[in-house]
Amino acid sequence: MKAYILEKYGKKQVLSLSTLPEPSLKPAEVLVEVHGTAINLLDSLIRNGEFKLFLPYKVPFVLGHDFAGTIIKVGSDVKRFKIGDKVYARPSDFKIGTFAEQIAVNEKDLALVPSNITTEEAAGIPLVGLTSWQALVEIANVQPGQKVFIQAGSGGVGTFAIQLAKHLGAYVATTTSSVNIDLVRSLGADEVIDYKKYDFSAILKDFDVVLHSNKDVKVLEKSLAILKPGGTLISLTGPPTLIIMHQFNLAFYFKLILNLLSASVRVKAKKLNVNYHFLFMKADGAALAEITKLIEAGKIKPVVDRVFGFEQLNEAMAYVETGRSKGKVILKIK
Ligand SMILES: NC(=O)c1ccc[n+]([C@@H]2O[C@H](COP(=O)([O-])OP(=O)(O)OC[C@H]3O[C@@H](n4cnc5c(N)ncnc54)[C@H](OP(=O)(O)O)[C@@H]3O)[C@@H](O)[C@H]2O)c1
Repeated sequence: MKAYILEKYGKKQVLSLSTLPEPSLKPAEVLVEVHGTAINLLDSLIRNGEFKLFLPYKVPFVLGHDFAGTIIKVGSDVKRFKIGDKVYARPSDFKIGTFAEQIAVNEKDLALVPSNITTEEAAGIPLVGLTSWQALVEIANVQPGQKVFIQAGSGGVGTFAIQLAKHLGAYVATTTSSVNIDLVRSLGADEVIDYKKYDFSAILKDFDVVLHSNKDVKVLEKSLAILKPGGTLISLTGPPTLIIMHQFNLAFYFKLILNLLSASVRVKAKKLNVNYHFLFMKADGAALAEITKLIEAGKIKPVVDRVFGFEQLNEAMAYVETGRSKGKVILKIK
């Protein structure tokens, strides 16, 4: 099978298209013929070497965190899926590799693709859908009438999270630039702030939940300040907390590093009487199956910016790295 491998870490590295043997199958895994994959900033961060501490992938390896495709083989212990099923997933960490014609995936990571969307649309759902679900449902437990601020509403996460928060009954505020105002409004955002013209922290107050996805520490501080007492900020961009230690089974000395990294934000959150959470999303087929139901019920629609061909992977990654994509960028494989 053909797959893109990363041979060396580095910002300027391109992934090379190679021929690899068919992936071997463990008893609880299925072999999937990949029809489409999505590009995530996480792929670029891993390529750059920025995640080596937590995710020490040994080169050469196949990158890629999202796929939709068809099952072509099943392991002897697989119970819930069969050959021919159309499935999608964000495979577990250390089992990634969706920039490929085939991938072996544990059935616990899988869900059936929604019947009312295309395979390309489905390929863009798992990572951003699960991120939004884990933030808004599992951590924040968003309730009807609550005020939720979702940063970067026009991005991959933002376009999904706005729709999920609206489905949960929240009042949703978001930031975007003027070109994307109509898009985020069409997804249901109640209040849209053009971040190039206005400072959201001068406008928003008494929010219950913030989904923070900006790398600027000043934006993080401003986001904490718009929460009401008892409110919750979930950061997708750090600083990471001790949760990572358990998630990645890290050595004990990481406790000190993680405590140091997050000390300042935890102190600020405590002073304001608000909660700070760091989320590094994880694979979860059961939650993805809930997302399938929401898409099939028409509550959430996929937003796809561009579909690239399989031979255009490096171009597609460069496009996502501009930070200007609207919704998801997809690579069509079959
Ligand atoms: N921790 C996790 O588990 C996790 C999971 C998913 C994503 N993330 C992280 O979350 C961040 C967002 O991910 P994503 O996939 O949604 O990114 P994305 O799709 O690349 O986001 C692109 C969008 O961001 C908007 N944008 C850029 N700068 C902005 C700003 N200052 N204010 C408001 N909007 C802005 C752009 O709109 P304009 O063109 O209008 O500026 C563009 O539409 C990334 O840093 C990613 O690495 C983390």
